[in-house]
Amino acid sequence: NNIEQFREDLVNWFIEEQRELPWRLNKDPYRVWVSEIMLQQTRVDTVIPYYERFMEWFPTIEDFAEADEERILKAWEGLGYYSRVRNLHSAVKEVKESYGGVVPNTPEEISRLKGVGPYTAGAILSIAYGLPEPAVDGNVMRVLSRILEIYDDIAKPATRKIFEQAVRELIDHDHTSEFNQALMELGALICTPTKPSCLLCPVREHCQAFEKGLQQELPVKTKA
Ligand code: ADE
Repeated sequence: NNIEQFREDLVNWFIEEQRELPWRLNKDPYRVWVSEIMLQQTRVDTVIPYYERFMEWFPTIEDFAEADEERILKAWEGLGYYSRVRNLHSAVKEVKESYGGVVPNTPEEISRLKGVGPYTAGAILSIAYGLPEPAVDGNVMRVLSRILEIYDDIAKPATRKIFEQAVRELIDHDHTSEFNQALMELGALICTPTKPSCLLCPVREHCQAFEKGLQQELPVKTKA
């Protein structure tokens, strides 16, 4: 049916067209975690060299847990928002001490870690552990607002839950990593904030906004 065709079109596009990014080399939950924290307030192109050096300095959870404050701040120097790396360090130490160095794989446990909000939790659970959890950020809300013609204001904190529910209904349970990353990748490469490249979009046949010519009107986002 149509929803299955949507999943297949989206996931196949991602498998064929995804960028080669260093955090996509494998699905180590620690590597996914670090990448998602870095990507929260920083662009992909800026993150890449920081991420590669970070993984050389701290290849495993153990290495990062044992690193001293000066070294972890040095690794982050230039990325800004230093609370990100302080929280990450405290959370990684918690994973070492309370979970034997294995990143927990339930929403409840992972969400208790410092700095791990709903987006990061969903990204790790779906990308590293294959669980059907939503990972909804602003880009994903933009993409889905167009595909599903959702008019909720994405500037309102309560709106994220609407989109999380939509992802729960849509997500391909056999390809959770590809499905969620495809939504992010579509937002980065095709379904951009202004002038989206609808003619290149792998899911334009499934897109309500494209069908109605509303892609420039969505998402609804009130000025902060
Ligand atoms: N932005 C946030 N997470 C990302 C990911 N896994 N790949 C590309 N861009 C992202």
